[in-house]
Amino acid sequence: MTSMRKSFQNLMIILATQALLCSCIREKVKNPTIIAVPCEVKDTLTYQGQIAPILSQNCFPCHVYPGSGGINMDNFTDVKAVALSGMLVQSIIHDTTYVIMPPPPQKLLDSCDIKRIKRWIQTGCREY
Ligand code: HEC
Repeated sequence: MTSMRKSFQNLMIILATQALLCSCIREKVKNPTIIAVPCEVKDTLTYQGQIAPILSQNCFPCHVYPGSGGINMDNFTDVKAVALSGMLVQSIIHDTTYVIMPPPPQKLLDSCDIKRIKRWIQTGCREY
């Protein structure tokens, strides 16, 4: 009886340790650290001026038609639609319900580029 209780205790300890380990690992993958860099972000940003270069550098070639996951980033209309759906920002800020973009091991967007994309959306997704 005592030995059974003992092995039950051991089992619980093993399970608890594993649960702890798993949650740490998952946490790391789901919320990777965004690189913070100092920058000045203009008040008004345009797709042609600032946004397309960020996307072409970080999201091509996976999101040029026919893009991965059905997401195309090679033209203004498609990018605007992904932006307005909320998916664009949520994927680059690594919202836990979205797949991390760009996927590892590729470098994540830095804090400046994220700020630029957010401001572009907040100010109405201008093309020019
Ligand atoms: C190395 C290839 C690759 C790069 C680079 C890449 N993606 Fe993706 N992306 C994928 C794949 C593959 C999927 C489909 C993932 C899935 O459904 O599991 C995807 C899906 C997405 C989705 C849909 C996410 C969802 O959870 O449904 C968005 C939004 C997205 N990518 C945005 C971006 C943005 C923005 C960039 C650049 C900052 C980028 N991706 C860079 C491969 C890539």
